[in-house]
Amino acid sequence: MDDNGLIEIANQARSKAYAPYSGFRVGAALLCEDGTIFSGANVENAVYGLSLCAERVTISKAVSNGYRSFKALAIIAEGEAPCPPCGACRQFLSEFGAEIDVIMANSNGDFKKAKIKELLPFAFTSERLSSKQG
Ligand code: THU
Repeated sequence: MDDNGLIEIANQARSKAYAPYSGFRVGAALLCEDGTIFSGANVENAVYGLSLCAERVTISKAVSNGYRSFKALAIIAEGEAPCPPCGACRQFLSEFGAEIDVIMANSNGDFKKAKIKELLPFAFTSERLSSKQG
């Protein structure tokens, strides 16, 4: 699966966004190491703070189906510039590896690509917990 193919799957998922409050529809698609792809969209709530980003919906779908090794995550939304993942989603993705490619796209066909370790330097990871002191 190439970058444009993954963006297209993210865009299809975007059509399922539930975003009645912000009106900002986001789609994501996650490519697993074995080639399996999961996709998802943002899901908002009348209690605004409970709203879920497309990326975390998608990663949770993959992990809860037994997948933990990921190659790339594509994100797409409207806008002049390709859509970057929010800080919470950077942290959520970095749990599964520093080398995962993040493909940030908009609906004009523009995209940028960076590794999650570039988007979230000095990440808090499980290594920190294993060196904890009483
Ligand atoms: N949103 C995402 O789905 N992903 C991001 O990385 C940024 C924001 C969603 C959350 C909310 O439903 C809407 O976009 C506006 O913030």
